[in-house]
Amino acid sequence: MPVHSVPDRRGTAQRRRKLATLAGLCVAVGVMTTLVSYSVTLYRLFCQVTGAGGYTARAATDTATQSSRMVTVAFNTNVAPGMPWRFEPVQRQVRVHLGQDALVFFEAENLSDAPVVGHATFNVTPEKVGAYFKKIQCFCFTEERLAAHQKVEMPVDFFVDPRMGSDANTADVQTITLSYTFFTSRQPNDAEDLARFDQAQPSAAAGRELFATVCSTCHSLNANKIGPPLNGVVGRQAGSVSGYPYSSALTQAQVVWNAATLDKWLTNPRGFIPGTTMPLSIPDKVRRRDIIAYLETLQPRSGGPS
Ligand code: HEC
Repeated sequence: MPVHSVPDRRGTAQRRRKLATLAGLCVAVGVMTTLVSYSVTLYRLFCQVTGAGGYTARAATDTATQSSRMVTVAFNTNVAPGMPWRFEPVQRQVRVHLGQDALVFFEAENLSDAPVVGHATFNVTPEKVGAYFKKIQCFCFTEERLAAHQKVEMPVDFFVDPRMGSDANTADVQTITLSYTFFTSRQPNDAEDLARFDQAQPSAAAGRELFATVCSTCHSLNANKIGPPLNGVVGRQAGSVSGYPYSSALTQAQVVWNAATLDKWLTNPRGFIPGTTMPLSIPDKVRRRDIIAYLETLQPRSGGPS
């Protein structure tokens, strides 16, 4: 059984208690919903090490539990009056199948000249779908410190329980809104440093989810789509998959794909190889690193160019 497919509330609560004891950091909030956000660090330290989160198991099994019904999940952010932070969703909304794992990002920036400790709360509307908005392993928008003028991206991993599809009461729901509000903390001494989001180890599992939401519109692993197939791309000469109609810029580029060249490419494809037709760029270095970690796991396709 997929680790995440039957996230009954009791199991989730138990897991939370366990993690809270283990880490002394994870706190259950949100009695009415089971949404939990997590920090990359806690997630990787506690969930991966203890197996409590089952990140890879989830990533490997999520397609099996998806339903064909889709919903739009929209993101909304607020900052309490007087708090000198900018806080915004990186993407306004995503469209997901029920049961599909999605990874989204929120960006926070301290606009002041002094460190500020913040604390987030969230809610999900309409209220009747709150119980289906799941779950994510570790919770941790606890007390968060941002140094003066520091900016970070914070990940939130979620899925909408496929059981929502059989609840007639929610049949009219097209859009679910997740709202976060940041407040100035009342317990600033407990703060964790948000800089940890920049220091976390690369995660191929997070990269796989990003690939599914960001790259797979244009790329598949083994077939031509809008872009060329990407299986085995690491170590491959740019523009070398036979049968894909590359731009002449890419076929003449004399570039071999590795972590360094992929990082330049994803930062700004047209800056790195002028004339290429790939329109997308990934400005965030943590996300680029995760995507590249995922690409490094892909096997060269059989019969492809060596
Ligand atoms: C909107 C469509 C689109 C999206 C989204 C997109 N790509 Fe591309 N990609 C292309 C096209 C088109 C090309 C071929 C470019 C050319 O021929 O100049 C390409 C080429 C590439 C190449 C070069 C492959 C080779 O064989 O040389 C890599 C690597 C790549 N993309 C990675 C990615 C990754 C990783 C993502 C997600 C972060 C992504 N792309 C998202 C359209 C896209």
